[in-house]
Amino acid sequence: MQKIHEFHRQSIQDKEAFWAREAQRIHWQTPFERTLDYSRPPFARWFVGGRTNLCYNAVDRWLDTQADQPALIWVSTEVEQEIVYTRADLAREVNAAAAILQEQGVVKGDRVLVYLPMIPQAAFFMLACARIGAIHSVVFGGFAAHNLAQRIDDARPRLIVSTDAGSRGGRPIAYKPLLDQAIQQSSHAPERVVLVDRGLVPMTLTAGRDLDYATLRARHLDAQVPVVWLESSEPSYVLYTSGTTGNPKGVQRDTGGYAVALCASMEYIFGGKPGDVYFSSSDVGWVVGHSYVVYGPLLNGQATVMYEGTPVRPDAAILWKIVEDHHVNALFSAPTAIRVLKKHDPALLHRHDLSSLDRIYLAGEPLDELTGKWLSEVLNKPVVDNYWQTETGWPILSAQPGVQEVPTRFGSPTFPVYGFDVRVVDETTGRDCGPNQKGVVAIEPPLPPGALSTIWGDDARFVKTYFGSFPGRMTYSTSDWGLVDDDGYWYILGRTDDVINVAGHRLGTREIEESVNTHPAVAESAVVGVADEIKGQVAVAFAVLRSQDLLSEDGAQDRLAAEIQRVIEQRNGAVARPARILFVTALPKTRSGKVLRRAIVALCERRDPGDLTTIEDPSALDQIRQAL
Ligand code: PRX
Repeated sequence: MQKIHEFHRQSIQDKEAFWAREAQRIHWQTPFERTLDYSRPPFARWFVGGRTNLCYNAVDRWLDTQADQPALIWVSTEVEQEIVYTRADLAREVNAAAAILQEQGVVKGDRVLVYLPMIPQAAFFMLACARIGAIHSVVFGGFAAHNLAQRIDDARPRLIVSTDAGSRGGRPIAYKPLLDQAIQQSSHAPERVVLVDRGLVPMTLTAGRDLDYATLRARHLDAQVPVVWLESSEPSYVLYTSGTTGNPKGVQRDTGGYAVALCASMEYIFGGKPGDVYFSSSDVGWVVGHSYVVYGPLLNGQATVMYEGTPVRPDAAILWKIVEDHHVNALFSAPTAIRVLKKHDPALLHRHDLSSLDRIYLAGEPLDELTGKWLSEVLNKPVVDNYWQTETGWPILSAQPGVQEVPTRFGSPTFPVYGFDVRVVDETTGRDCGPNQKGVVAIEPPLPPGALSTIWGDDARFVKTYFGSFPGRMTYSTSDWGLVDDDGYWYILGRTDDVINVAGHRLGTREIEESVNTHPAVAESAVVGVADEIKGQVAVAFAVLRSQDLLSEDGAQDRLAAEIQRVIEQRNGAVARPARILFVTALPKTRSGKVLRRAIVALCERRDPGDLTTIEDPSALDQIRQAL
């Protein structure tokens, strides 16, 4: 394993030489003057003075050699449609989308909010924004009006792109009414909305505000929109992610660093080369969708598969059918999807020819040993567990078959990825932990190219949230527990904060609590993540009512729980729905008023609640026990 460790060592010890070399993978319209500016820690600027463009590198750069080869392969089992866009087709659509944006007055630095399901237009508009230097902010389609309004108010977009509906399990899910509500709730709604009419549900356009995409597209189909060359550190996008407060953080990404980091990762981590086909089943609303549905594969001259559908419809062989049909070389999915497949007939895994497939990559949540082992055995393919975050943009820990093949261990995302100076840090002393000692997974700055540059509009929050956790050192905290074993294999041991992970979806418990608390009957609440066999975790809510009398009527409990669920669904979307809503008369708290979440989680998981010396009222724990 010499090579992989040596590669990593070089990337840390001589980072500037390392990244200057990797930067040659992309086209620079103006070469950079300095590889790194780290004069204002913890803010890092990579490839200073260099001018480039994500859309040019993902689309135009490949037109000479790959104009007629597939670039974007769209498969929808929801509306039973498949469209293969060649690189030339993609260029045409992206130029049309860019012309639409320009016509509506969108210029460099403006934000464009994209609220779309897994349809090609999501990629067209992301790339179109990149082309003209506008900053896209894609909002996950599973989120609802309140989430959307919060993001509109923070990003203050000049324009929104949306649609009549998404579809799940063959049933349309209306987007437009949620969008209208969100616009009504927000104080910074844009003047224009472009709507892709899929004809799934009736939709009324608001005169003077809403524009029909098909009409605009027809007008601009032959447009050639010049590329706007951005300085490497100028933002490409803002992607909101959950943290410990009710306000999501706008993770701001740069341009040049991201392009270089993703391009390199396609080879070193994902073993890809130009012409290969890459399939990530993530939604574009999440970071994996940004990095590995849209940008990574396209930047590296690979084709990308965009899939609208679930892993079990029309049957549990659909992922493998797509692999066979489109000669997929690498598949990226989430452990939850595999745990779901495990419940189906194993014969389905052998129905299709998977000879094109080299490896399967899983990320977004812990990959349990049993699931990883099961998948690699039934398919007889290597399974690569990779660990990272919205903030980092690409893997922190992973096997790197493009550097060296190494033996992997189930339950471990293997080793640190080049560029990431990862440590396990003791949260009380701030010192590095030894082997087998649990601590917080941390990254010594400067963060490598492609990682977040700041929180949108809030540098102070960036510094405080990510670099303020350890005494005596300014080191990035991932807010994950972890350890390294005697052989140098890393293990992730859960979050240190109140963020939960439901089926690979990162959710803030505070955001859900705020929604529960808006129900007039609720005085306060605690939402926690509880281990679940399939989804990894599920949310469980404990609510304290303003008056116990509210529960006296027959069926009152169920009725109230259903009402609270509805509030959550309307504000945060169906993804945030707790598995259970339970009523108690008090929450277990410390004497200083902090809810003892870890104790609640332990009780929910039938574990010992641990140290309770700080508890104000021990009977509150009995209530939790009883409610369960
Ligand atoms: O807790 C870790 C978990 O997901 C969090 C990041 O989620 P998100 O920002 O949505 O980014 C997902 C990018 C793949 C992490 O802080 N997580 C992610 N991957 C793994 C993981 N936990 C364990 N093992 C993983 N491979």
